[in-house]
Amino acid sequence: MKHSSFLSVTDYAADELSYLFDLAIELKKKLKSGQAAPLLNGKTLAMIFQKPSLRTRVSFEIGMRQLGGYAFYLSPDEIGLGKREAIKDVAQVLAGYVDGIMARVFSHDHLVELAEYARIPVINGLSDFNHPCQAMADGLTILEEFGTLKGINIAYVGDGNNVAVSLMDIAVKMGANFTIANPAGYDMPEEAVKLAQTFAKESGSRLRFERDPLTAVKGANVIYTDTWVSMGQESEKAEREKIFLPYQVNRELVDAAEKDCIVMHCLPSHRGQEITDEVQDGPRSRVFPEAHNRLHAQKAVLAYLLGDSMM
Ligand code: CP
Ligand code: NVA
Repeated sequence: MKHSSFLSVTDYAADELSYLFDLAIELKKKLKSGQAAPLLNGKTLAMIFQKPSLRTRVSFEIGMRQLGGYAFYLSPDEIGLGKREAIKDVAQVLAGYVDGIMARVFSHDHLVELAEYARIPVINGLSDFNHPCQAMADGLTILEEFGTLKGINIAYVGDGNNVAVSLMDIAVKMGANFTIANPAGYDMPEEAVKLAQTFAKESGSRLRFERDPLTAVKGANVIYTDTWVSMGQESEKAEREKIFLPYQVNRELVDAAEKDCIVMHCLPSHRGQEITDEVQDGPRSRVFPEAHNRLHAQKAVLAYLLGDSMM
């Protein structure tokens, strides 16, 4: 079945996600060997941003270009999504100009509304609820490292935020085990956990919820962390920076995991807070290949949703 949008990896079946990973690997190989892959010749993508970005903006723009298409950036001030103009109007106007929309928004409901009215594919470039494009790059990075996601132990340490939700989603879809350690009051949304539990039953994934980071990383093949203060939470900065201090990914924590453990972070990181310099720059770190995989994973999603024919 071909989907019309990409708002969450939980909307996709495990074999569809596997197909996307295979396509990403194929596209990455082609790019490295200098072969063209003009799967989106002449196609256009509007990129709506309500928040700042480096990776998402650049990887989508370059990705579209490499596929033979064209992407353009719409800044927060430019269209005033839901402020200057109703979201359903923005959706219907853009649908007459472009072949797809990628949007980074505050409220996840805004993405849902865009997708409902756009009649063209809408791709989630991060919302307050989740970050599925990041999860595709993360899954690809783990796959490249270990040759599989099945049975891999992923330990997420820190805030139960948008990145944590999508990482949990890709884990339970693909049969990886997912453990999170976060302070009380910063749990992942209940609805996300409930949904993940149903997929974990199907795939055989084990889900664990801990408070203690050292307990969580025992047996981990992957340690993952993200900022303690997400975009939009700036007013909670001082409080969060205090509460999350015991959740730093440092050498002691990495040493408590498996020997072959890798360390991941969606970036941007706050060196000296959620991750130390030593770990981010150390031999276990995969943060830059992970960032680069955004390009390849998203090209697969773009080709799947916007393309007429596959390779
Ligand atoms: N990881 C990520 O989404 O980075 P940007 O905020 O720079 O796009
Ligand atoms: N959790 C972070 C991810 C940034 C890519 C945020 O939402 O700001």
